[in-house]
Amino acid sequence: MSDKPVYKRYTVTSALPYANGPIHIGHLAGVYVPADIYVRFLRMNDEDVIFIGGSDEHGVPITIKAMQQGVTPQDIVDKYHGIIKKSFEEFGISFDIYSRTSNPVHHETASAFFLKMYEAGQFIEKVSEQYYDEATRQFLADRYITGTCPHCGYDKAYGDQCEKCGTSLNATDLIEPKSVLSGNKPVLRETRHWFLPLDQYEPWLREWILEGHKDDWKTNVYGQCKSWIDQGLQPRAVTRDLDWGVKVPIDRANGKVLYVWFDAPIGYISATRELTPDWEKYWKDPETKLVHFIGKDNIVFHCIIFPAMLKAEGTYILPENVPANEFMNLEGDKISTSRNWAVWLHEYLADFPGKQDVLRYVLTSAAPETKDNDFTWKDFQTRNNSELVAILGNFVNRTIVLTHKYFEGKVPFQSDLNDGDIATLSEMKLFPGRIAQSIHAYRFREALAEMMNLARLGNKYLTDNEPWKVFNHDPVRVGTVLNIALQICAELSIVAEPFLPFSAAKIRNTLNLQPFKWKDAALLNWLSAGQTLNAPELLFEKIEDAAIEAQVQKLLFTKLANEAPLAKTPVKPAKEPIQFEDFAKMDIRAGTILEAEKVAKTDKLLKLKIDTGLDQRTVVSGIAKYFKPEEIIGKRVSILINLTPRKLKGIDSQGMILIAENPDGTLFFVTPDEDVVNGADVK
Ligand code: 2FM
Ligand code: ZN
Repeated sequence: MSDKPVYKRYTVTSALPYANGPIHIGHLAGVYVPADIYVRFLRMNDEDVIFIGGSDEHGVPITIKAMQQGVTPQDIVDKYHGIIKKSFEEFGISFDIYSRTSNPVHHETASAFFLKMYEAGQFIEKVSEQYYDEATRQFLADRYITGTCPHCGYDKAYGDQCEKCGTSLNATDLIEPKSVLSGNKPVLRETRHWFLPLDQYEPWLREWILEGHKDDWKTNVYGQCKSWIDQGLQPRAVTRDLDWGVKVPIDRANGKVLYVWFDAPIGYISATRELTPDWEKYWKDPETKLVHFIGKDNIVFHCIIFPAMLKAEGTYILPENVPANEFMNLEGDKISTSRNWAVWLHEYLADFPGKQDVLRYVLTSAAPETKDNDFTWKDFQTRNNSELVAILGNFVNRTIVLTHKYFEGKVPFQSDLNDGDIATLSEMKLFPGRIAQSIHAYRFREALAEMMNLARLGNKYLTDNEPWKVFNHDPVRVGTVLNIALQICAELSIVAEPFLPFSAAKIRNTLNLQPFKWKDAALLNWLSAGQTLNAPELLFEKIEDAAIEAQVQKLLFTKLANEAPLAKTPVKPAKEPIQFEDFAKMDIRAGTILEAEKVAKTDKLLKLKIDTGLDQRTVVSGIAKYFKPEEIIGKRVSILINLTPRKLKGIDSQGMILIAENPDGTLFFVTPDEDVVNGADVK
């Protein structure tokens, strides 16, 4: 007997992705697909469950991206929240709400949460020295400082981490620190922050996690928590000097916001408030089971910091489980947003329309549940062609087609059962329980494999009984065989629903069935004799080599683009900064070379006649080594027309054409696009 309480309802959350990039397969495999399977399964069990998602719209990476693109942080989060929300919807992630942390209800909820803890004296206030950029007059978040890593010498390490050697850093560890904002050396200045004294929660965390969840939390999750706790927990700042985020709701904190990892998990609560006025029962009733689906990089926040916050606030329940996954790699390399090394969900949906379930299947069967795993396009193709098409699709299709062929699309009668039929029927009964057990234990790979074993059972049953050979002499026997095969199809439509909802619906439509509950999965008589079936719908189709090749090529281009700049000769360093007015003095126009000839007695100079749109003028240019006169007539160029004329080899040169010079000395014209007319301003 389990001594775990029986729960009345479930609150299931999935990590709120940062709204600074689209969703990729790593997010899906780690968090959203398993969470969706779990929730769909609970709903089929008539559980009272809410599934919470939303965009995490605060944090420094968003402000940096905005700065780089010359837009506001709000512009960035609006753009990506839209893309993310739409792609989740199309992919069938069945959130009850997909919210965002820039919503007012979230700001209110997070503020109130902080204030309650503040008023109860649960923070430590500390003044410490932090880097400050005098040019832009602001304190610098760790990501706003770069410098040389003291461990490996990499010169673009961030103030919190060196991405080359992976070491966690403090900004003050960096050699020659530089502000990302101004490029200047930052100075140390005093600033006041509020800290959550995690050290004080250590005894309680030991008891709650290390003793209380030793047996039911996944080994990877438990292990990470144990290692954090054993290393000794330190007070953690929950405020930041930044102007993007939830304002710290106390007067003396003017100009400060809550640390993104303080406000983001409260986002789960805010989203629930937004979803239902009855939100409190999902967060405060001990008979509610709270489950957080996350990736392994979020473990400390969801297992240690957020629970400490919930405990400190005092009125909330704690997570019952945090089934974090490891990482999904892509073609042997870590998925990386900044290196564009990813399969993006919105691109997948455009490249493989109607194939949501294929990706759901592949990501679940290769889910990184216990260790990092690798997604490859070849494996994607094999799993589709050899499993979905050859096993599941083939079984359902054969059964429906044969029923149409022999029984005019009506479910035939089940007559005398032989030993094989009886064994098959009793085996069928076992699947729902086995699958349910695996889902309850968050072992979704195992659950999916079991679902496919039911399709294998169906295929074996058809192959053993060979209805296509028997029909001529014993149509009654074939009726029995197809009746049983159709019941297996019906059972598949139920047990496949959490994993492959689009395909499950297609099977139901073909069989003319309404959605069933999970408990109905062991019935064995979903279809009555005489019931009419619809024409078979294509469940899965073979994915050809060309489609896979195209994806592999796409990744290859990314790889080349990432590697190319490193492989080349370094380009010249940047010149001293100039003012805009200096640049604006130059009058550069689009033009066309009308004539070109060598200047006598020199190897270097060409005399060019150029149509500048204003006039036709002569320019002498030192490009003779690279361009043959006859080959450049008609070429488009950019020409500086207000350079003071000068005499070269006795010829008046009235301007200068712009040339791009590669590090190896090869020269190229800076050519305006063909739609640009002569005389157009280049600025
Ligand atoms: O790692 C991330 O992508 C975070 N944005 C996850 C936040 S989960 C929760 F706390 F909101
Ligand atoms: Zn390093």
